[in-house]
Amino acid sequence: MKAVTWHGKRDVRVDTVPDPAIREPTDAIIRITTTAICGSDLHLYEVMTPFMEEGDILGHEPMGIVEEVGADVTQIQPGDRVVIPFNISCGQCFMCGLQLYSQCETTQVREYDCGAALFGYSKLYGHVPGGQAEYLRVPHADFGPIKVPKGPPDERFVYLSDVLPTAWQAVEYASIPDGGSVAVFGLGPIGQMSGRIARARGARVIGIDLVPERLAMARRHGIEVVDASEEDRVPEVLRDMTDGRGPDAVIDAVGMEAHGAPGIKAVQTLSGLLPDSIAETVFQKAGVDRVNVLNASIESVRRGGTLSVIGVYGGMADPLPMMKLFDKQIQVRMGQANVKRWIGDLMPYVNSDADPLGVEDLATHRLPLDEAPHGYEIFQQKRDGAIKVLLHR
Ligand SMILES: NC(=O)c1ccc[n+]([C@@H]2O[C@H](COP(=O)([O-])OP(=O)(O)OC[C@H]3O[C@@H](n4cnc5c(N)ncnc54)[C@H](O)[C@@H]3O)[C@@H](O)[C@H]2O)c1
Ligand SMILES: [Zn+2]
Ligand SMILES: [Zn+2]
Repeated sequence: MKAVTWHGKRDVRVDTVPDPAIREPTDAIIRITTTAICGSDLHLYEVMTPFMEEGDILGHEPMGIVEEVGADVTQIQPGDRVVIPFNISCGQCFMCGLQLYSQCETTQVREYDCGAALFGYSKLYGHVPGGQAEYLRVPHADFGPIKVPKGPPDERFVYLSDVLPTAWQAVEYASIPDGGSVAVFGLGPIGQMSGRIARARGARVIGIDLVPERLAMARRHGIEVVDASEEDRVPEVLRDMTDGRGPDAVIDAVGMEAHGAPGIKAVQTLSGLLPDSIAETVFQKAGVDRVNVLNASIESVRRGGTLSVIGVYGGMADPLPMMKLFDKQIQVRMGQANVKRWIGDLMPYVNSDADPLGVEDLATHRLPLDEAPHGYEIFQQKRDGAIKVLLHR
């Protein structure tokens, strides 16, 4: 089959690789119809290279048709239309019992002290072949796959794999009071959907980014925007917009590759250049994140407010302004999305033909799988208006 494979920093290719096969009775094989490139894939593309191996199959936002199931899989059958959550969870362990599916103790990667395995996400997360491919082996398919109805286009459902549950969790963790306000840093797909979900749940939403078409997309979904390329005092602007206090909650939907902090860029570049074993240590022991957005979030949120960090951070020694966090009494919540936890909340939105979250207005590019390298390039460089890139067969 054809699959998108990693070959080095900013080098992904479409290779022919062996078809996957059932290995465990709880496996399923899915024929992918649509899959997406995620902001999280960009960390692998550029920063997390020490944990990648040449030929690794990327991707964790797939949907498609079930081809084959193992003997113990009864919740889906061949021919079903399914979306595959990006985290692989067993559904039965202690953590899954708490609906903390991204912490599943059955698939946890103990070697690196990491949470649940993820599709296509490096050695840190189980080294599982990903879903930017024609076929995907789905472990724990007796629990994971989400059945969706036939009929509406893939774009209606594909974001259940990651973007929508992640955005839902970001909003949930933000604990916005009734009728309150939330600022969303970063208007990539995660920030866009966090903003739309918060609006749908009654909040006032202010989005911050520096890319014109991302600001424009947010605006057309009822989100007020601040252009960070024109404002170097964003926290002050946010306070001015909210009675001098700051928004009740802030969502950081940017993460470790924020623009505008050159010092750490050097560490990220360095860890990409060093031999793998040394780079792994640098990555795990050093502060590799550009924390400028995190700092701006802490500065922006009102006293006693909540900071919800949904952007991914990876460093082990990032400095944090503890005094400010403590003195302002800020509640902080974060983590990888527990995808299946939020599917019940999201189903009514994606099943409605009125498309209340505007899921059909997110993808800017729909490319055949063969053109994935181009997709990565334009998405990373934010060229050609790329906001979300879908790949299809
Ligand atoms: N927690 C989870 O489970 C989970 C799941 C999916 C994605 N993520 C993470 O969420 C983050 C966003 O993902 P995405 O797909 O939307 O990616 P993306 O790269 O498209 O979005 C990031 C956005 O941040 C903006 N940005 C960069 N620097 C900024 C700054 N200084 N001020 C304001 N905006 C700035 C960029 O212009 C871009 O629009 C990534 O870190 C991704 O890894 C987390
Ligand atoms: Zn993703
Ligand atoms: Zn589990």
